[in-house]
Amino acid sequence: MTDPLFDTAVTRAYGTRLPVVAGGLMWLSDAAYVSACARAGIIGFITAASFPDPDRLRAEIRRTREMAEGGAFGVNVSMLPKLVPGERTAEIFELIAEEGVRFVETSGRNPAPWLPILKAAGITVLHKVPSVRFAEKAQSEGVDMVSIVGAECGGHPGLDLVGSFVNLALAERRLDIPFLIGGGVGHGGQLVAALAGGAAGVVVGTRFLVAEEITAHPDYKRALSEAKETDTMLSMSSVRNTIRTLRNETSETVARLEAENPEIGIEALLPHVSGAIGRRAYETGDVSRGMLSAGQALGLTGQIEPLAAIIGRLEEEARVALARLRPAILQGQTQGELA
Ligand SMILES: Cc1cc2nc3c(=O)[nH]c(=O)nc-3n(C[C@H](O)[C@H](O)[C@H](O)COP(=O)(O)O)c2cc1C
Repeated sequence: MTDPLFDTAVTRAYGTRLPVVAGGLMWLSDAAYVSACARAGIIGFITAASFPDPDRLRAEIRRTREMAEGGAFGVNVSMLPKLVPGERTAEIFELIAEEGVRFVETSGRNPAPWLPILKAAGITVLHKVPSVRFAEKAQSEGVDMVSIVGAECGGHPGLDLVGSFVNLALAERRLDIPFLIGGGVGHGGQLVAALAGGAAGVVVGTRFLVAEEITAHPDYKRALSEAKETDTMLSMSSVRNTIRTLRNETSETVARLEAENPEIGIEALLPHVSGAIGRRAYETGDVSRGMLSAGQALGLTGQIEPLAAIIGRLEEEARVALARLRPAILQGQTQGELA
């Protein structure tokens, strides 16, 4: 049931208790994690790209539904910036519709060509963008809601690298559809700030990586729980695919290669940035190698604990933030009455 304090377009669209979205996490947002989100009163998204075999994706959707105890969940469809031959996007959307999934999170490319099929299937589309200008475009194409992730975010912050606080103010001025703010969110006070600024919710990735339900080696989570907000770095800008990852051997190497030769091109970087290396780090816990997406919210991670405990703290912090504002609001009212 929606918490009346946090009743927004997001909680109404998803039927969640809180206006918090757990964004798709390549290799990591599986049934265990996404169903934990549902049980904790938020919505998470299974990353379709983690399941190249359609039957495995179908099975994961079914497993999530069983484990979600009636809570909302969706599927993340991350598209490449340009359509490539052999891309499975149409097939994935069909599968999602067939399975009766009601919510999708899209990213990477504008989902406009698929909107008629998705709308016909009654699916709510949340599109994620790294800049308000792309949010305006998505709004004009007809998506239901947008998430705007700022420069602080783990994964792909785009090329503009505008911070989340500026995105919030710009989005409030320029958008009519409900929007969420992400990038660096890991404290309930930020949720209240986002709602006060006109957002309908927040999207979180990094802060939840230390959840017990994330399927990764405990050493990986331990490393993240000990990391600071300064332990990430940006690379891949030379190939127009900027990514924020944990600072380690691989990300330092990639950044050095790019600095030495700005024309280097993706082929020369692929041996370092291949997803398989990162996936190994999740399995072995050795975080020295692999492009491990992580954002500045690493400074807010704390210990490894159940997702419900992390969400509980976020909620408590949000209540404290609201209580901080209340005396000021009441005082303002009294002064207004006296005037
Ligand atoms: C480990 C990791 C993997 C991610 N994988 C994806 C992905 O496959 N697709 C996607 O749309 N976003 C992906 N993201 C982005 C998140 O969904 C979310 O937008 C972002 O983490 C929010 O910023 P934050 O990390 O500062 O909370 C990933 C983020 C992380 C940290």
